[in-house]
Amino acid sequence: MSERTLNQKTKVNYGPSGRAVSQEIDNDLLFNIFQHLTMERNANVQYFSMSLWFQERDLNGFSSFFLNESKEELEHAYKFTDYLIARGQNVVLHELVQPVQQWESIEELIAFAFNMESDLTISLQQLYAISERTSDIRTNIFLDPIVESQIKSENEFAHILGKVKFSEENPSAILIVDEYLNRK
Ligand SMILES: [Fe+2]
Repeated sequence: MSERTLNQKTKVNYGPSGRAVSQEIDNDLLFNIFQHLTMERNANVQYFSMSLWFQERDLNGFSSFFLNESKEELEHAYKFTDYLIARGQNVVLHELVQPVQQWESIEELIAFAFNMESDLTISLQQLYAISERTSDIRTNIFLDPIVESQIKSENEFAHILGKVKFSEENPSAILIVDEYLNRK
């Protein structure tokens, strides 16, 4: 092996965190991943706020459902930070927004949650498109199961919204939905 070839084989690229990386992340993609990470962290806090809203009204099925959703959003955030670190990046944590804590009705709250999930799906789709454009196949593969579970979440919120809409804020019907969510 010539000295030149040896040099090429031992030369390693290091990312901003000082970790070895084989493919750098495109700046536009990185910026959008950080934005998405913030959305997941905002969702974590927002769902916690919704869980408290229901707990205050003794609707413990809804409350535990939203507490669980809150924990899942933190896990999603963790998946992204874990991935960024594996790709040699330093994680940048942005400021979070103050969560909404007041709603006129359960239907309004669930509609808010559905729209939040829908925004998360759009953001993931953008990440997917940028990864494809920048030939970052690693990121596409990383995103595949996340997009799949995101679509399931959207569907789940559409289902709960349907149940709540059907009950038209009728207390006994709402209690049945609360029981249903308690069993989940
Ligand atoms: Fe999420």
